[in-house]
Amino acid sequence: KNIAIVMGGFSSEVNISLKSGSVVYQHLNREKFTPFRVHILKEKWVALDDKETEYPIDKNNFSFLMNGKPIIFECVFNAIHGNPGENGVLLAYFSLIGIKHTSAPYYQMALTFNKRDTLSVVKEYGVKTAISVYLNKGDVVNTDEIIAKVGLPCFIKPNNAGSSYGISKAYTKEEILIGIEVAYKEDAAILIESFLDGTEVSVGVIQYKGATKVLPITEIVSENDFFDYEAKYEGKSHEITPARISSEEQLKVEAIAEKVYKVLNMSGFSRSEYILVNGEPHFLEINTVPGLTEASILPQQAQAAGISLAELFESAIESALL
Ligand code: DAL
Ligand code: MG
Repeated sequence: KNIAIVMGGFSSEVNISLKSGSVVYQHLNREKFTPFRVHILKEKWVALDDKETEYPIDKNNFSFLMNGKPIIFECVFNAIHGNPGENGVLLAYFSLIGIKHTSAPYYQMALTFNKRDTLSVVKEYGVKTAISVYLNKGDVVNTDEIIAKVGLPCFIKPNNAGSSYGISKAYTKEEILIGIEVAYKEDAAILIESFLDGTEVSVGVIQYKGATKVLPITEIVSENDFFDYEAKYEGKSHEITPARISSEEQLKVEAIAEKVYKVLNMSGFSRSEYILVNGEPHFLEINTVPGLTEASILPQQAQAAGISLAELFESAIESALL
């Protein structure tokens, strides 16, 4: 079975995606699958062979010619964080041309990539969240009103982005203004959220061998002021799996993570984030193309659950092909 591992993308997360995709490529079982890396970049869409030769992708049917022979894919493994992999855009195209893929359907991907809209759905089901203010580029910024609503310190986030690009923690009015500028570099909409003081945990929920499976919970201890890009990818954090939380807290986080996955109609991989405040999980966001790099959390959780990376990726493809 020819599998396209799509990686790259058009966002700041391009290099992280190339790493995630390479991990999938390395671990896919060659007895069952013939994987190809497919780079989807602003400047080109190309399949690569083991010698790094590039073959242009025919966008009419997502195939390519190798030595005059067409290579047609049975399934796409989506390893693109951000636009266009995690926000549904590419998945709408695959659904249009009839190619199966490992992610949730494009509508779920589009919804969950929008932090504000995801929060509004999960809140309907009683999930606790931070207090937030939503702004679009050009909206009047009144820092007194923002502080009256969310307090200080607060977080400023691009509404549609990942890997902590564009996120700041602000302690003062001036820092709020700077944070807003930084966040607008990543996206035209931003979210300003109250600071939740507690233990940060991350939990993978996946489709595994035909059933929804909640993976062991990871506790995130950042050396930096929050779990920023440097903490995530440059070793400035400790990720402890299983999290050092009480069994009562563990049950609560697992139940909420599963509920969030269900109410958002998710399928495929996901990893959602919570802050435990006085034992109560507060939902931050869900990542539907979680990082699969050596530094990423979901692979650690799978291994802690006794699932090898080869099994994890194979199961994703098998679920997609059902
Ligand atoms: N956005 C990054 C890749 C993650 O959630 O792991
Ligand atoms: Mg994220």
